[in-house]
Amino acid sequence: MTGVKSTEIDEAAAALAAGRLVAFPTETVYGLGADATSDEAVARVYEAKGRPVFNPLIAHVPDLAAAERLVVFTDSARRLARAFWPGPLTLVLPRAADCPVSLLASAGLDTLAVRVPDHPLALSLLRAVGRPLVAPSANPSGQLSPTTAQHVREALGGKVSVVLDGGPCRVGIESTVVDLSGERPVLLRPGGVSTEAIEAILGPMAAPGEGPIRSPGQLESHYAPHLPVRLGATRARPNEALLAFGPAVAPAAVTLNLSPACDLIEAAANLFAYLRRLDRPDLAAIAVMPIPETGLGRAINDRLRRAAAPRPGGDR
Ligand code: TXA
Ligand code: MG
Repeated sequence: MTGVKSTEIDEAAAALAAGRLVAFPTETVYGLGADATSDEAVARVYEAKGRPVFNPLIAHVPDLAAAERLVVFTDSARRLARAFWPGPLTLVLPRAADCPVSLLASAGLDTLAVRVPDHPLALSLLRAVGRPLVAPSANPSGQLSPTTAQHVREALGGKVSVVLDGGPCRVGIESTVVDLSGERPVLLRPGGVSTEAIEAILGPMAAPGEGPIRSPGQLESHYAPHLPVRLGATRARPNEALLAFGPAVAPAAVTLNLSPACDLIEAAANLFAYLRRLDRPDLAAIAVMPIPETGLGRAINDRLRRAAAPRPGGDR
């Protein structure tokens, strides 16, 4: 295992349990890992990647049994998992009712992507932490995915507590992402497992854009609160809930504050959970106070603008 000692794994596991970020090797690319059950740790991942939007993340687990605790498997999902896990295949499935993974990792969707990586260091780390880890490729947004520990240190060194060095990644491209949450399986991203190998088990898959699908480009229509969302509010009108940010000048009867201290990581961590809590049938709308368009604020505002955009077909 290229000289990584068990004490290093224990250190990395302790850092993760404390909410910090750890880069670790998988067979595909290096992942930027965080405790998937912690809203704040997941928010830190988005902040470190510097993405202007919340793209949903993959929850990594050590085996199929651990994945079954997070998402609802179908027969075909189980067949794929048995054939290709551990390995470079990611399955998108409905979140289980008691799924402990942060809503932020699902970027507000009702689905979650799960995968069992085929790398001894990744598996030891997952077993040592004892909880699922989100891990996008460990590169800043818009840059190439890293396949050596040195790539990670160069690009994200200042942002991670530990970089576990497992040498160069064997596969070198990201996992294949298959969405099994709808009626037909959809290939969302080609990757380390070939389409042919998957179709040999599943039959033909739809490509994103064919049929009734949920590709990441269409996420905006997938989750929005039922209530209308009013942006740039300074105070709530009667019957509106207030989603506050910073010192709330005029709290409403129903107010949740994303971050009284104006901390954008805290605000991102709370965003999806608070939107759901304010989405109450006894209210008329959700008024949202302004959030600065800097750092994670850009991703938060992107999400809020989508939630406030006119809905296809009027109300839903
Ligand atoms: O090989 C890999 O998959 C690497 C290693 C580290 O495991 N991880 C990786 O993660 O590539 P990331 O975040 O860079 O890519 C995840 C992909 C994105 O295209 C994202 O849109 C898609 O998976 N995805 C994740 N959750 C999804 C969901 N609930 N619905 C649809 N697409 C999802
Ligand atoms: Mg990536």
